[in-house]
Amino acid sequence: MRSVREAWKAAVASAVADMLAEKGADPSLSEAVAAEAPPDAAMGDVGFPMFPFAKALRMGPPQIAAALADRLVAEASAGAAPAGTVKAVGPYLNVFLDRASVAAQALGSRSLGSSYGRSSSLAGSKVMIEFSSPNTNKPLHLGHLRNDVLGESSARILKANGAEVMKINLVNDRGVHICKSMLSYMAYGGGRVPEDEGKKTDHFVGDYYVRFNDLKKDDPKAEEKAQELLVKWEAGDPETIALWKKMNEWAVGGIRRTYDRTGVSFDKYYYESQIYLTGKDEVQKGLASGVFFKADDGSVRVDLSPIGLEEKVLLRKDGTSIYMTQDLGLAIHRHQDWPFDRLVYVVANEQQYHFKVLFYILKRLGYDWADNLFHLSYGLVNLPEGRMKTREGTVVDADALLDSLRELALEEIQAKGREDAVGDPLDTAEKIALGAVHYYLAQATPSKDMIFNPKESLSFNGNTGPYIQYMGARISSLLRKRDRGEGSASKGSVRPELLSSPSEWELVRLVSSYPEAVEQAGAEYNPAIVAAHVYAIASAFSKFYHDEPILSCEDPDQAATRLALSEAVLVVLKNGLELLCIPFLEAM
Ligand code: ARG
Repeated sequence: MRSVREAWKAAVASAVADMLAEKGADPSLSEAVAAEAPPDAAMGDVGFPMFPFAKALRMGPPQIAAALADRLVAEASAGAAPAGTVKAVGPYLNVFLDRASVAAQALGSRSLGSSYGRSSSLAGSKVMIEFSSPNTNKPLHLGHLRNDVLGESSARILKANGAEVMKINLVNDRGVHICKSMLSYMAYGGGRVPEDEGKKTDHFVGDYYVRFNDLKKDDPKAEEKAQELLVKWEAGDPETIALWKKMNEWAVGGIRRTYDRTGVSFDKYYYESQIYLTGKDEVQKGLASGVFFKADDGSVRVDLSPIGLEEKVLLRKDGTSIYMTQDLGLAIHRHQDWPFDRLVYVVANEQQYHFKVLFYILKRLGYDWADNLFHLSYGLVNLPEGRMKTREGTVVDADALLDSLRELALEEIQAKGREDAVGDPLDTAEKIALGAVHYYLAQATPSKDMIFNPKESLSFNGNTGPYIQYMGARISSLLRKRDRGEGSASKGSVRPELLSSPSEWELVRLVSSYPEAVEQAGAEYNPAIVAAHVYAIASAFSKFYHDEPILSCEDPDQAATRLALSEAVLVVLKNGLELLCIPFLEAM
């Protein structure tokens, strides 16, 4: 269903196209028509800037806006324009939507339920998204939680826009860091297993990785020995492989339990141990075709001067590969596995250079899909106390963080005496904890570094997950009361034209523009856009709830209509929270 807003956008675009054609300019320039929100609702509900057409039309933007307004008014009187009125305001063409039709449409979201906000903007497109990609020497930490929510949420948003999505995880299960935890287990483990110590299996492995620090003191040759162990691993030494397998199962098993807890899942796991040699052939092929060159020292390199960078080694002179070689092979291999239209890498911004170079090389190798690779680059997550550092023990373990947030949420439920109202207090506390972390991490602009403040994330007031969950619970409770026959609503009928107060109109506007937010979030791979929308609608609801009687409204039609609006808001909250991997709560 096309919204009244979208209908207006199409009408403006088609009028601009006509004007362009009349002036002998390219009508497809009208694709640049973009809707903005005017700074003040008194100026209109949607504004279309005319700057992009000034050159082609050889007119000033205000002149274009005025001419366009005349055209659209004429179309409207001929019954050919969508409902509403237009006005030129300086360089903008502003539209005042017909509120009753927008309201009727917004209320229509109730019957669409969980499919409200879905679009077909990415239909027919296959998107592969790689995220999480942990190392198997330690458990997940706060940085992974940011990665995971960005990846899982982007995947859900892409699917909501009609894309076919394949979620993949590249597990880094080989290398010298893995050998360090193995070596330390060999020294101190004494054959113990995680159950002996009642530890979650990935924590058990991680603790040995940390104990490598002790080993270095006990054995000055520890670093060398780790390198030797890697050589043995590469040679397939049975004992080494057996221990490696056992420890990796512990690590991956524990990490997967955390994914289950946070609601993250993957369609396919790739393991570096199985693919770290891929890519060498591709480099050889590129050498043969002249894309790469052999340097004087015998290494194979690529010239990066076209993108303003120093040349880069792809195969060392002894023929061994590097991180880049592996990623080249892997991207090509993945495209053969599942011919994607786009491939998204959710990886920290520390690797910006790596992906820039990777994408450039794939393009030079002639892969046409190389234009559609995207590095969803995200910043560090720091704590209010400062930077996280593994060795200084200030790294925030994901499981421990969730446990402590759950504990705090449980205390809050108890302090408010809500144990009976919520049903299962521990389960509710767990869902609040997840809501707190996921929302806090998802609302931040992905590319920016951020500070995670655990206390703040849990606040029931302000821009937080629990606040939004709380609004959802409050609306659910209102609707339960209505359904039990409380108030006059059951005697009234829903009349969209009654929704005219500022706080009602704000909710109508936010319900009806929700699908656009989901579409934009999909186009930009940015869950923060959905988060901002969901927060805006939760706080607008809070204002509405404060300003207007709802259940207790005397006029039955008005009561029924306001409850219907509340129900439409609930649809948006539920669907938006689902996209953000935040559990919905009926009661809090
Ligand atoms: N495991 C890597 C790390 O810990 C991230 C892997 C990123 N993905 C990739 N295809 N290079 O930094």
